[in-house]
Amino acid sequence: MIGEVKLRAAGVVYVLALALLSPAFAAPPVAPATPAASVASVASAAGNTGPSLQVLHWWTSAGERKAVGVLINKLAEQNIQWRDFAIPGGAGIGAGKVLKSMVLAGHAPEVTQLNGVIFGEWADLGLLLELDNVAVQGNWQKLLFPTAWSLLNNHGHVVAAPLGIHRINNLYYNIAIFNRLGLRAPRTWDEFEQVAVKLKQAGITPLAQSSESWQVATLFETLVLAESGPAYYRELFVDLSPRAFADARLLHALKRLRSLKQVMQLPVKERPWTEVAHQLADGEAGMFVMGDWAKGDFNAWGLNADQQFGCAAVPGTADYHLYSIDTLAMFADDYSHQPAQEVLAQIAMSPAVQSDYNKFKGAIPVWRAPDTSKMDSCSLNSWRTFGKGAAFQAPSLVHRMATDETTKDAIVAELRRFFVDDQMPEAEVQRKLAAIARALSRTGKVE
Ligand code: GAL
Repeated sequence: MIGEVKLRAAGVVYVLALALLSPAFAAPPVAPATPAASVASVASAAGNTGPSLQVLHWWTSAGERKAVGVLINKLAEQNIQWRDFAIPGGAGIGAGKVLKSMVLAGHAPEVTQLNGVIFGEWADLGLLLELDNVAVQGNWQKLLFPTAWSLLNNHGHVVAAPLGIHRINNLYYNIAIFNRLGLRAPRTWDEFEQVAVKLKQAGITPLAQSSESWQVATLFETLVLAESGPAYYRELFVDLSPRAFADARLLHALKRLRSLKQVMQLPVKERPWTEVAHQLADGEAGMFVMGDWAKGDFNAWGLNADQQFGCAAVPGTADYHLYSIDTLAMFADDYSHQPAQEVLAQIAMSPAVQSDYNKFKGAIPVWRAPDTSKMDSCSLNSWRTFGKGAAFQAPSLVHRMATDETTKDAIVAELRRFFVDDQMPEAEVQRKLAAIARALSRTGKVE
């Protein structure tokens, strides 16, 4: 396994080295030192044909498409065409690979949904357009939640435009079923078990779940948070402290993951998150743990919070916010798209988009003080919890907020192996995860 991990790490270095050597990766020309393009100037320069931007993303579900529609329309109002390049696959597993090969081939899209710490890798190669002018003119530092602001910054430059903040530690439940059986959303694991027993007795799968790796790991990261809170969570997934992987709290979270299989439909099938969400909506399952992009889909299917579905926090995590922040990064190339790219960045941060896009997406605005009038109770709760500050926030491992892609992929693969193999002892997966942390942590520090 270690050998495999080292090989993968070596692979990344090789790819980056290739990237630096390849003519496609020659440092892009220096950006013209002009103020950010104004919406009006790009629109008038555009004439009838107008500029266009190819946008790579993975938003293909019903709610996600509606959210993308808001961006497409706002851009069209400025006579800029959004050339859609959607790669299906939850959590961007496929999109990430396509993006990497496009960049390596020298055909990077003009814009990409590019979440999390991976910015740094592309920005360090000089590939991303710096949006400092737009950020200064738009007062982003003052308007944004500090966590969102620091995420966008790479060595003092803004390298992406923020869209919205997703909460991941949600426990959705089917209200009709809960009412019929006289159940209440569980706040503790004891209550969860009691609810699960009642659901089972009624012939309903207590917890909807897929065995797709990222979905297993999404459930697992909420269990780590439940077990420990954000400080230990960060020791594990941000600091990659090998010692933290030997901790009893991780053992408990692994045991919880395994025991939760008893309340899932067995064998746990590998299906897209949208299908699993349907199981909850259709009353096949009573509860579902998922990021609030699922709420975007429930809404798109005509279901509303506090009516057809309820949103509670995963037991033990009500005080915390396990987050993923969606952003758009712009590839600089020869800077010919810079005016249109800057307009898109301005649009992403505009109050109308922050409110309407995030309503469809199920997320909350990145603004500290947004318009809360259109928010449902789930979003209000998410916004209040995130607003409590960094001590209550945990960056999602699965959704690229905590560490680099290679480390994340190695940890996620190991967790899935543990999930599907009931014979694998918890201590073994703890040792393997610690070995990954030792091999791939950015500091290379061995404890
Ligand atoms: C996340 C992303 C969300 C949503 C989700 C499901 O990584 O932040 O916007 O698309 O994946 O694919």
